[in-house]
Amino acid sequence: MINIGIIGCGYWGPNLIRNYTQLPNCNMLMCCDSDEKKLNRMNTLFPGIQTTNDINQIITSPEIDAVGIATPVFTHYDLAKEALLHEKHVFVEKPLCHSSDACLELIRLAEKKGKVLMVGHTFEYTAAVNKIKKIVESGELGEILYIASVRLNLGLFQPDINVIWDLAPHDISIITYLLGEHPTSVNGQGKAHYRKDIEDVATITLNFSNGTIAFIHSSWLDPNKVRTTTIVGSKKMLVYNDTEPQEKIKIYDKGVDAPPYYDTFAEFQFSYRYGDIHIPRIEDYEPLRRECSHFLECIEENQTPRTNGYSGLRVVSVLEAANESLKKKGQAVPIRYAKLLRKAA
Ligand SMILES: NC(=O)c1ccc[n+]([C@@H]2O[C@H](COP(=O)([O-])OP(=O)(O)OC[C@H]3O[C@@H](n4cnc5c(N)ncnc54)[C@H](O)[C@@H]3O)[C@@H](O)[C@H]2O)c1
Repeated sequence: MINIGIIGCGYWGPNLIRNYTQLPNCNMLMCCDSDEKKLNRMNTLFPGIQTTNDINQIITSPEIDAVGIATPVFTHYDLAKEALLHEKHVFVEKPLCHSSDACLELIRLAEKKGKVLMVGHTFEYTAAVNKIKKIVESGELGEILYIASVRLNLGLFQPDINVIWDLAPHDISIITYLLGEHPTSVNGQGKAHYRKDIEDVATITLNFSNGTIAFIHSSWLDPNKVRTTTIVGSKKMLVYNDTEPQEKIKIYDKGVDAPPYYDTFAEFQFSYRYGDIHIPRIEDYEPLRRECSHFLECIEENQTPRTNGYSGLRVVSVLEAANESLKKKGQAVPIRYAKLLRKAA
């Protein structure tokens, strides 16, 4: 049995607590929040759970083996570092840290201590994304020409991070996981309409060395909740709509065939293919349950998590480059630690 403590009981933390409470190989021992109101709510939701407003009760407890962190991003590094220094396995919500240097420091510390460091890239545990990965790898879509990911809604405005840091980590983790590649550079453009220097709408472009390109559009200022990823291949096209309860993936047998050779403009004719739409069946399970269970398995079997520290660094290095590009009016910014990430993949 693994004894676990969770720090941060705001919006997301209770989902971690619920899952760890229900998993058989773990004791959900204690939760912590600096806000007493949040702790009162935890006592109501999870009767019998120990609560504290002092992180040291979790971090220094000899009873606790592993710590889950679901606090705002600027607190992740300090909390995770303290937990690792106290010989705990650590799970950190996305994004892993506020900078790639901080991610790397945590990776090195976890390696030195021989502890599991995992990041909560939840979408990599969904049935839909794993099905899409199989489809992409099977070659059914052909060569991947581009990916366009859209994540929009009205709010919730974050006080300390812009919309890219809030919403795009999911898209970056999905895209890099599906392609099995890391971009070489990023362009970003956005605008802060309501708070100075905190962009509420942005688009970023990920440039890959094999010529694939990916666009991510993130917004807190849209009338509709949209979560779609479109993958355009040379043979077929796939649309993943995460707001659909059942038919999340649609594969379109559509495409364009260009003539291989032509002499005159009259001979030049594209042919467009409008074929069938296929909706594959996908398993039904809670991705967060898979993710929490994977963390426990990695601790028990001394394994490296699928979404390990390098996976966290991969996402943060793209976020960082996107932020720098925003300041440089969309100029392409190279990814930091690209060589290290390629080696770690
Ligand atoms: N995986 C996902 O799909 C997903 C979804 C939502 C949020 N998240 C991530 O979860 C994290 C938390 O997001 P949220 O929306 O729950 O934020 P939130 O603001 O609702 O909750 C954060 C909580 O942490 C507490 N807190 C802050 N600093 C603390 C400290 N030093 N010690 C103890 N408690 C502290 C706050 O009082 C608050 O209750 C973020 O990293 C976010 O990106 C992940």
